[in-house]
Amino acid sequence: MSKVAKRSKASVDTQFYLPPDEFFRASVPMALTFDDVTLATLYSEILPKDADTTTSVSDSLSLQIPIISSDMDTVTGKEMAIAMALNGGMGLIHYNMLPKEQVKEVARVKRHIHGLIQDPITVAPTNLIGDLLLLIESKRYGFSTFPVVDADGRLCGLVSGNVVKERYRSKSVAEVMTPRAHLKTADEAAVAKEPIKAADKFFSANVGINKMLVVDREGRLRGLVTASDVERITGETRSRRKPARDSQFRLVVGAALSPARTPAGALDRDAVLAHVGNLVDEHIDAVAVSTAHGHTAGVGEVVRLVRQAFPSLTLIAGNVTSGEGVEFLADCGADAIKVGQGPGSICTTRIVAGVGIPQLTALYVASKPARARGVRILADGGITKSGDIVKALTLSDAVICGGVLAGCREAPGEIMEIGGKVYKQYRGMGSLAAMKAGSAARYGRDREDTRKVAAEGIEALKEVSGSVDEVLTNLISGVQSGMGYLGAKTLGVLRERARFARVSPAGQKEAAPHDVVEVSTRAN
Ligand code: XMP
Repeated sequence: MSKVAKRSKASVDTQFYLPPDEFFRASVPMALTFDDVTLATLYSEILPKDADTTTSVSDSLSLQIPIISSDMDTVTGKEMAIAMALNGGMGLIHYNMLPKEQVKEVARVKRHIHGLIQDPITVAPTNLIGDLLLLIESKRYGFSTFPVVDADGRLCGLVSGNVVKERYRSKSVAEVMTPRAHLKTADEAAVAKEPIKAADKFFSANVGINKMLVVDREGRLRGLVTASDVERITGETRSRRKPARDSQFRLVVGAALSPARTPAGALDRDAVLAHVGNLVDEHIDAVAVSTAHGHTAGVGEVVRLVRQAFPSLTLIAGNVTSGEGVEFLADCGADAIKVGQGPGSICTTRIVAGVGIPQLTALYVASKPARARGVRILADGGITKSGDIVKALTLSDAVICGGVLAGCREAPGEIMEIGGKVYKQYRGMGSLAAMKAGSAARYGRDREDTRKVAAEGIEALKEVSGSVDEVLTNLISGVQSGMGYLGAKTLGVLRERARFARVSPAGQKEAAPHDVVEVSTRAN
């Protein structure tokens, strides 16, 4: 095609398919959501499989896929968080549980697979086996092999699981351990750069050994790598999607923060700081101050408090649907801002309170100050299909999903059968049942008070939808298709290139399968 032909075609396109600034201004005062718009295709040299879906939630927290599971008590507990991180995303563990239980759930995710464990649990030669049995029970450790160190941290042996038994409870660790002289160890300096590769070699060379103990020149224990972790990690490198990991190879995880209040109603600053401190001790990657209305004095106070005490912690806050709301939370210290008021599949905020903004316009409005302030935008709620995610990502850094994940087997809750179909419970955090279980504060209510208030969410069921792995594979494949159609190698380029058109009701009908009888040829 000649240059002239290319240019004249482009000029027709630019009259009908508008970039966000022109498009959303032209729609004023109408607020739009996903199905109201469609994206125009562009010249592409990108195959969907080569589209790069990496994103970031803050300057220090990157994800391999731009999907976060919602901090709802029927969506994200530890199993969902592990599955999300293994697929490259992140789970936000809900807060309808005791703070110490939430800390345990976070710890469980962080300990799912290790690279080099830099602070292994050790025992002393003078401990009795009975002490170890008690330790395992009280801390609920899923392992029973411990390195043995002296008071200076020098490795003196390894006590293996097959001697940590009732019958030996009165024996000392020194009596039953494998002594240092019989242990194969690795030198810290030699393995520090690539501990997993080094451990892989170590386990191949030392048949039958399944713990690599790392020591420094003075013989002090500096770390431990287990063979099972190495096998899982090397297995992952063969899989298509990379897990989201921190710098120590642990899975990434976030948690929602419950803004504890004193009986008089003031923010319980000590309780909030103690809880976040405990999460940070477990290496939490992000904390989310999640409320229905984030542009408030109360949320600002919590965000400022946590930011001041934990300057480098990734802090998510919300929810807002205005530019001023974004600026407010950015000024308070949030790194990423949740946008969405009422788009969720179980939300009734717009019906009950008459407020909220259709999600795509809300994202556009929020994205302007967010770019100016260098904070990220998380599109929270209303996602029902992969095309919605592509549209959301033209204006945001990641999406938060509840409903599309709630039917997965990793979501909390029992599977139930009704009329031959299988379902899982899915409820809004503003539903009466969830507020009673703890989330009332998120909606500015007292937990004891919930009978007197209008619920802003419903209790529902989702058809069971298989594993997180399967659901995310479909969603991400759709996102990559969208990126391919727009010639976008990265999500940054997707944001730059997006051009929109309005869709009429007839256009919406045309967009879905129509005038056919659908048949499924998929194997079960
Ligand atoms: P989806 O559409 O993914 O939405 O199911 C999940 C998001 O909805 C929000 N959420 C609520 N909003 N009342 C509301 O108005 C509720 O009871 C409620 N519960 C959750 C939340 O932002 C979540 O991520």
